[in-house]
Amino acid sequence: MNKATRKAVIAGNWKMNMTPSEALKLVSELIPAVQGKNGCEIVVCVPFVDIPAVVAAANGTPVKVGAQNVHFMESGAYTGEISASMLKECGVEYVVIGHSERRQYFGETDETVNLRLKAALAAGLTPILCVGELLTERDQGITAEVVSKQTKVALLGVAPEDARRVIIAYEPVWAIGTGRTATSEQADEVCGIIRAVLADLYGKDTAEAVTIQYGGSMKPSNAAELLAQYNVDGGLIGGASLKASDFTAIIDAAQ
Ligand code: 13P
Repeated sequence: MNKATRKAVIAGNWKMNMTPSEALKLVSELIPAVQGKNGCEIVVCVPFVDIPAVVAAANGTPVKVGAQNVHFMESGAYTGEISASMLKECGVEYVVIGHSERRQYFGETDETVNLRLKAALAAGLTPILCVGELLTERDQGITAEVVSKQTKVALLGVAPEDARRVIIAYEPVWAIGTGRTATSEQADEVCGIIRAVLADLYGKDTAEAVTIQYGGSMKPSNAAELLAQYNVDGGLIGGASLKASDFTAIIDAAQ
C-alpha cells in the first residue's frame, strides 16, 4: 500500500457547535454538494445530541457519522458518559479519541486514550486518534518524541489487524483554531514520523496501510497542498467544517 491506495478521509469535527436543528440544516446543505464525490471518505463528527438527526439525514449518502468522544467502560455507574455500544447502535461509525481539547480541558491522558481506543475498536467503531505537540514542545525540538509517545501509548495492546482500522490525526496544538497552519513540509514530516512509529510497532505493510490525517486550520485555500503530501491522507477539520461550502471545497481538494 502507498498513498495511491490508502483511503483518504476528510472528517469534520464540529466540536461544541450546532444544535440538532442547526445540524440538520448543515447536513442538508452538505449532502447534495458531495453527491458522487467518491475520491475520499466523508465524515462529520457531531455532538452526541445531534447523532440521531444526522444519522437519519445521512443514511444512504456518502456522508458518514462520527462522535467526538467515547467512554472506555461498557456500561455502569459513569454518570454523564456514553459507551461505544451506545454509539454503534445509534449508527455512528467513527469516533474522535484524544483530541487536544480533551487532553487540555478534560484531563485526558495517553492512558485513557488507550482505553478508549480499545473500547472503540472492540465495538466495531473506527477511531480517529488525535496526537500533536504543543508550541512549547515544538520550540524545544521534541515534536518527534511527543507524537511518538502519544502514538505508542495509544496503541498499547492493539493487535496489528486492529491497528489497520485506526485513523491517526496529526494535529499540532498550535495550529488548532489559530489560523496558523503547519506548512505542508511540517505536516508531511510529522505524519511520516507517525508512520515510522507504526512501522516499528507493526511492520511496514501496516504502516503503509494506515490513514494519517492532518488537522489544524485546514481550509479551502491550503487543503490541496497539504493533502498532496505523501504521508498526509486526509484532514480533520474544525472551523471550516461548519460551513457546507468550505467543507465541500476541502472534499474537492481530496478528489
Ligand atoms: P480547526 O480546523 O478549527 O483549526 O480545528 C482543527 C481541529 O481541532 C479538528 O479536530
